[in-house]
Amino acid sequence: MRAEDEVVDLVILSGAGETEHHEIAVYENLIIQAEALGHPEVVQLLSQNLEQEHHTLEEVTRATHECARKAAAHFAHAV
Ligand SMILES: [Fe+2]
Repeated sequence: MRAEDEVVDLVILSGAGETEHHEIAVYENLIIQAEALGHPEVVQLLSQNLEQEHHTLEEVTRATHECARKAAAHFAHAV
C-alpha cells in the first residue's frame, strides 16, 4: 500500500519545518553565547544566518499551506 503523494509531501515538509525550527533555536542560543562573550562580529554573522533560517522557514510554511490545500482538494474529491 502506498501513501498519497500529497501525504508524502506533507510529511517531508513537516520534517523540513522541524529542521528549520531547530536551526533557529541553535542560532539563537549561539547568539546569546557570543553576546555574553563580547564578540559583536560573531553576533552579526550568526544573526545573518538566523535571518536566512527564518526566511527558509517562511518558504517551508508557504509550501506547506499550498500542499495542504491540494491535499484537502484531493481528498474532498476522493470521498
Ligand atoms: Fe535551514
